[in-house]
Amino acid sequence: MSHTTIVDKKHCVDVSIAANEVAEMDKFEIVTREDFSDVTFLIEFHHPQMARAAHPGQFVIVIACEHNERIPLTIADFNRERGTVTLVIQTVGKTTREMQQICQVGTKLFGVVGPMGIPSEISKARKVICVGGGLGVAPIFPQARGFKENGAYVIGVVGFRSKDLVFWHDKFKDVCDEFIICTDDGSMGIKGLVTDGIKIAIDKHSDIDEVVVIGPPIMMKFAAEATRTHKIKTIVSLNPIMVDGTGMCGGCRVIVGGEQKFACVDGPDFDGHKVNFDDLMNRLGRFLDEEKLSVQKWSEHCRQEKLKD
Ligand SMILES: Cc1cc2nc3c(=O)[nH]c(=O)nc-3n(C[C@H](O)[C@H](O)[C@H](O)COP(=O)(O)OP(=O)(O)OC[C@H]3O[C@@H](n4cnc5c(N)ncnc54)[C@H](O)[C@@H]3O)c2cc1C
Ligand code: FES
Repeated sequence: MSHTTIVDKKHCVDVSIAANEVAEMDKFEIVTREDFSDVTFLIEFHHPQMARAAHPGQFVIVIACEHNERIPLTIADFNRERGTVTLVIQTVGKTTREMQQICQVGTKLFGVVGPMGIPSEISKARKVICVGGGLGVAPIFPQARGFKENGAYVIGVVGFRSKDLVFWHDKFKDVCDEFIICTDDGSMGIKGLVTDGIKIAIDKHSDIDEVVVIGPPIMMKFAAEATRTHKIKTIVSLNPIMVDGTGMCGGCRVIVGGEQKFACVDGPDFDGHKVNFDDLMNRLGRFLDEEKLSVQKWSEHCRQEKLKD
């Protein structure tokens, strides 16, 4: 049995469910799986209502299989004609590694809740820099496309450790007027971090209206510092630990401008110059011991299962 919830946000398009679509909803069948590297993979699943309701910047909460935990994942893309939603997942712990194993074409996700969160505001900015690093590369794509569709001059800046990990190079080139790839080892694009890419773009263009950044907290922190002195509006998408995703549990509490906010309902986008990133990073590290133990137990279970075969 599968479960779904369509969360109706004020910005969402019609999410009403036609009777003949209820059967469809019971599916969440994975129709595409693509591996970008050993640690990053894409799944596209069938869910016409979700695809209709989705907007850039929103996320879903996924339960990959029964008894699995719920994890938040950003909607990296959606296709209303195909009725599909795309997620790009980076393996960091037990659940994402398990998903890497079990989420194959033809299998079904057990449950999906969403779209959740306030959609990103695709403003009327004339010139923007869209920055993605690590697990932020995929979710920055629909934003870059949204700005392009709004007529903006879009500069894409994406960061990877090395050339082997680069993905969606062509997709970004299609929607960006300028595209800067940054790799830690210099194997592709410029050698450096996304902050170096941001600096190059700002030095070349004195008229940047807005910078949007998605990636690990440390990256967003330094990206926001890089734009602060230039007084450029900077939006970041926060990824605190989430449990219910509905504003009830307080797990995703973040501090923005000295005030407490819940990223799941007040965000996930916030003014990067006001976010307390040190508090966010501190809270993300609260369960490191439990997370390590969980991976160990799961790896041992997988080893035992292999021995049985
Ligand atoms: C709004 C939002 C959108 C997200 N979008 C994506 C996405 O598109 N692709 C993707 O790969 N990941 C995304 N994440 C992060 C993803 O949810 C976590 O990586 C995942 O929950 C980790 O589960 P795990 O069991 O594999 O690892 P765990 O063992 O639980 O954690 C390993 C490490 O990952 C981090 N982490 C754990 N749980 C979370 C969490 N709920 N949120 C953020 N970081 C966490 C911590 O630093 C932790 O030390 C998003 C998180 C949020 C809040
Ligand atoms: S995840 Fe529970 S309040 Fe946001």
